[in-house]
Amino acid sequence: MEQSDEQKLTVTKDWWKENAAGVPRLITETPGPRSKEMHTRAARYMKGLSSQVKLFPVCFEEGYGVTLTDVDGNRYLDFSSGIYVTSLGHCHPKISEAIAYWAKKLMNAHDFTTPVKEKLLEKMADVLPGNLNAIQLYSDGASAVEAAIRAARAITGKHEFISGYRDFHGKSMAAVSCAQMIRGDVYSYGPTRAPGFYMVPRPDPYRPLWTKPDGTIDTDQYIAFYDQFITESTVGNVAAFVLEPAQGWAGSIFPPDDFFPKLKAFCEKKKILLFDDEVLAGMGRTGEYLCMNHWNVQPDIVTLGKSFGNGFPVTAMVLKEEYGEALESISASSSYGGNPMACAAALASIEVIEDEGLLENVRTVGAAIMKRLEKMKAEHPIIGDVKGKGFLLGIELVKDKATKEPFAEAGTLVYQKAFQRGLAWIPAGHILRMSPPLIMDEAYAMKGIDMIEDAISDVEKQFGYV
Ligand SMILES: Cc1ncc(COP(=O)(O)O)c(C=O)c1O
Repeated sequence: MEQSDEQKLTVTKDWWKENAAGVPRLITETPGPRSKEMHTRAARYMKGLSSQVKLFPVCFEEGYGVTLTDVDGNRYLDFSSGIYVTSLGHCHPKISEAIAYWAKKLMNAHDFTTPVKEKLLEKMADVLPGNLNAIQLYSDGASAVEAAIRAARAITGKHEFISGYRDFHGKSMAAVSCAQMIRGDVYSYGPTRAPGFYMVPRPDPYRPLWTKPDGTIDTDQYIAFYDQFITESTVGNVAAFVLEPAQGWAGSIFPPDDFFPKLKAFCEKKKILLFDDEVLAGMGRTGEYLCMNHWNVQPDIVTLGKSFGNGFPVTAMVLKEEYGEALESISASSSYGGNPMACAAALASIEVIEDEGLLENVRTVGAAIMKRLEKMKAEHPIIGDVKGKGFLLGIELVKDKATKEPFAEAGTLVYQKAFQRGLAWIPAGHILRMSPPLIMDEAYAMKGIDMIEDAISDVEKQFGYV
């Protein structure tokens, strides 16, 4: 069978709907008895679980489209896409077929060219903006970030890096050095972050550090601070700013529209690269292939992951064409990066985004969700802010709208209560994060929001707000 045979598989864009009918469909309390029993046995050995699992120890055995089914037969609506990963729906038939084809034909050929890799590279160059077309492939986000940091050093001959407060870039040593290091999920015992890594505040419109006289956030002040920070705190050898375009883990925090254009101009003036970590926000999640496209800014380095292979571990580091040569000097390849199954998953994923018009779906349904969230914000005493673009969304819970004191206990309870009602999603302290699959239509999206709103109302009652 030729590769083209496998690619003849056609599915309509409603492939997931039959399975989703009637979801959530709960037949036991959740987590159910079989889930509890299996999880207890697994947790005897599996250590270091995420809070997502610890707070709701369900055991899943099937995922299809916008649903997840547990071992007790309960079917949940998925508002997590795994963890921003299965963005085109669990087990998209076209993507699963493409992976299976190469699983039977050629699983690994190191970094030799394969037919499917050649097609993927051309497709990536086609969908990414400008001349972002010097590519290397990896199998997890942190490895791509790590490689990008080495590449930035090779390109500039400089060694310092600046990232933003509450950014997250993965759990390898350089990546944790670009994040807060005393936080549970990246806790790093050590005398310090890696030398030459610094962090600066980045603009959060709900919690601004610097404002204009009219009270709106003042992005010029942030840039002025970076200028001063570089003079006062670095040795003047800054290779790159390492930033998420919109912060995922931190709670779907988007900067004001003028921030990245100003930062890019500042970086150009200072001969500093802009490394845009799109592992979480990229490949359609915000309604654009790159989140940075919203601001018409072309970064120098981009990393892609998560949605890139719709669940198959495949990630990428992409540089502007003129920097491609630098990859020759860092021995950029890896054992699994760019294996045929991975390339097939990534290629099929981009084709699905194109064929099913998913960027448009994300923009339209995302706007409808935001409208609903704004209404909820006006009606609920503990919703301090709602935020997002496309399907990267957040609800910030506060004890008091005036003081904006974070309400983490409420966040935990809302997460658990909505999950009990049949919504599989992601906790993040006081900010409720939502990351539905990009295929979801408005009706299912509103079902998910209903479950969240019901859980918020319950928690408001429990804490005596209503
Ligand atoms: C922005 C960002 N960069 C990098 C990573 C690391 O990716 P991985 O978990 O695949 O190593 C993540 C993971 O959540 C992320 O959100």
